[in-house]
Amino acid sequence: MCGIMGYLGNQEARPILLQGLENLEYRGYDSTGLSILSETGEFQSVKSTGRLSALKSVLEKNKLSGNVGIGHTRWATHGQVTVENAHPHLDCNNSVAVVQNGIIENYRQIKENLQSRGHIFKSDTDSEVIPHLIEEVLDQGQSLESAVEFALTQVKGSVTLLVTQSKIDPKIVAARLGNAGGLVIGVEDNELFIASDIPALLPFSNNIMFLNPGEIAILSTDGIEFVDDQGRTIEKQVSTQLVNATEPDKGEYDWFMYKEIMEQPDVLLNVLRDRVGIDNFSLELPELSSITEQLPKINRVILMGCGTSYHAALVGKGFIESITKLPAQAEIASEFRYANQVIRDTDLVVALTQSGETADTLEAMEKAKQAGAVLIAITNVLDSQSTRIADASLHMRAGIEVGVASTKTFTASLLILYILSIYLGKNRSSVSEIELTEHIHDLEKLPEYIGNALNESPNIHLLAKDYANTQYFLFMARGLLFPIALEGALKLKEISYIHAEGHPAGEMKHGPIALIGPDVTTIALAPNVPNKEKTETTIEEIKTRNGVVLGVVTAGDSNLASRLDGCLFLPSVPVNLVPIVAAIPMQLFAYFIALEKGLDIDHPRNLAKSVTVE
Ligand code: M6R
Repeated sequence: MCGIMGYLGNQEARPILLQGLENLEYRGYDSTGLSILSETGEFQSVKSTGRLSALKSVLEKNKLSGNVGIGHTRWATHGQVTVENAHPHLDCNNSVAVVQNGIIENYRQIKENLQSRGHIFKSDTDSEVIPHLIEEVLDQGQSLESAVEFALTQVKGSVTLLVTQSKIDPKIVAARLGNAGGLVIGVEDNELFIASDIPALLPFSNNIMFLNPGEIAILSTDGIEFVDDQGRTIEKQVSTQLVNATEPDKGEYDWFMYKEIMEQPDVLLNVLRDRVGIDNFSLELPELSSITEQLPKINRVILMGCGTSYHAALVGKGFIESITKLPAQAEIASEFRYANQVIRDTDLVVALTQSGETADTLEAMEKAKQAGAVLIAITNVLDSQSTRIADASLHMRAGIEVGVASTKTFTASLLILYILSIYLGKNRSSVSEIELTEHIHDLEKLPEYIGNALNESPNIHLLAKDYANTQYFLFMARGLLFPIALEGALKLKEISYIHAEGHPAGEMKHGPIALIGPDVTTIALAPNVPNKEKTETTIEEIKTRNGVVLGVVTAGDSNLASRLDGCLFLPSVPVNLVPIVAAIPMQLFAYFIALEKGLDIDHPRNLAKSVTVE
């Protein structure tokens, strides 16, 4: 979703803003723009629809020069994808430029009021009300920061923004209201960088400061000052990020998604490192030390997330119930935040979010926190907002995931949930020493099993070639494989734009079987797990009606394979690991279908990596 980048220093702002925005491309966007202050303090702005490469072409003809600027990649919410709607937005006097991420819920009312006072709007966006609100306060002779503070008192919703003003000593004011994505500031001698996310700052600074909701930062040639929403000064420390100052690289691969799929054995090894002792059969989660004293009172676990992270929550519910032996439920965070759920201080709430910035998940977390629940975040981004809301956090350690379609962060989430279930079970004495040893034996082999599943890649590619023109896919499974069926359908629809649905196999004859016909291919997840024969019965029912069925089948199961139209083979693995390993053919199949269709796999249409608005 929208990416923000700002620079104030002594170098040319243009290449720095472009590089920062390029490193935020993974978030998803549909238009771009920059405003740079010239030597004489005037705004020079350039905007474009489409990718950053289009903006760069415009900049070839119009080389903006100056040492202070703000830039934006826009993911449209209000107003179509046009040059006029791209950010930055300026006020009537061209004295203020604003880039914004978020949604201003009451913008229509504010816009009407401003128009009635003579303001002229150039876009259909909600964001454009901000520069006009600021303009009115500046006209009264107040400072830029006072004007931003005032504007924030007028808007309802969640916003993250940068504002800069012409013809004054260079200044960028940054502010956050609610959870509409983060802002990270990089501090170097005589230079300040500010962006939505750390990857944008990696080439420039490792000295990082974070802006929290309700805070304002004033960046100037004198340095940086923080105030809260009451205007009181806040002291903040610089933290040094131990990050590799290189951009993610596709290496030998054509697409980040394929690279990220293939990285999964290493990612899962990383998840296990220091947490699971293979030699001494130990399992520790030191990251949870701050909440261990609260664990004995827990009598229910609520897992939540959006999209792929919700699918992980569904698998997590199964792990918690079968291993920890606690009641558990999985919730869609965007629903949970508004639902009349009973949440108690004896609940453990586990929020899953690879980005750590999904607005709906953050709001659902705030709700759980206010109700007194113990709150754990499972995230791939250390220092993301999710880790600041949670009582304790478990890091996915998957490395930056660039492909919009989540792959390695999904399996990393599943593995952490499995480890967490054992950890809680150990804590509550529902996992015996013998069971612990068995679980650790299984976990030791997981990276190898994932590697074996990935070895099927060429066969899955061949199958995908045959089915790339299919119009509808129906995924079905039972038990803990049902969330994997949902994930298979989500992966396929988001990158190949083919209609796909996931259903519990037992529900087929209650409705979805009516869909079976020549245009529909069913993918049945039927590896060796308890109740597999029940799924086989449903397969028979579909075959009887001349349906085409592909199966996710354990290698060597020639009996089932012979009754199917095609197979995606899995290695034989212990039952608890089947959902994690079965995610691999789902990801590969979706990837190869999209490849055959010649689509932009890493940047599927309409989607964003980091969903920072509601
Ligand atoms: O960053 P999050 O895990 O909170 O993101 C939630 C969803 O937007 C995300 O899982 C989305 O469904 C996937 N990128 C789809 O592949």
